[in-house]
Amino acid sequence: AYVIALPCVDVKDRSCVDECPVDCIYEGRRALYIHPDECVDCGACEPVCPVEAIRFEDDVPAEWGDHTASNADFFTAI
Ligand code: SF4
Ligand code: F3S
Repeated sequence: AYVIALPCVDVKDRSCVDECPVDCIYEGRRALYIHPDECVDCGACEPVCPVEAIRFEDDVPAEWGDHTASNADFFTAI
């Protein structure tokens, strides 16, 4: 799945939401999150984020922390 990572925090541009064909991007308190089971890996959201926060899960820079886990945790918490 694709993952919304660190640059989204407190930016929340939301351009990605309009691009997602399956509406799997959800709003959290400080960032948005991609549901890992609903994402169909189309990649449509990735180029529209102005701060390049969206990456394929294997391509999230390690120095940003484990956003794949935090995306998944967001959906187990709600
Ligand atoms: Fe939605 Fe496609 Fe982005 Fe997944 S990759 S969150 S399905 S727009
Ligand atoms: Fe965040 Fe970028 Fe979407 S800032 S809300 S991931 S367009």
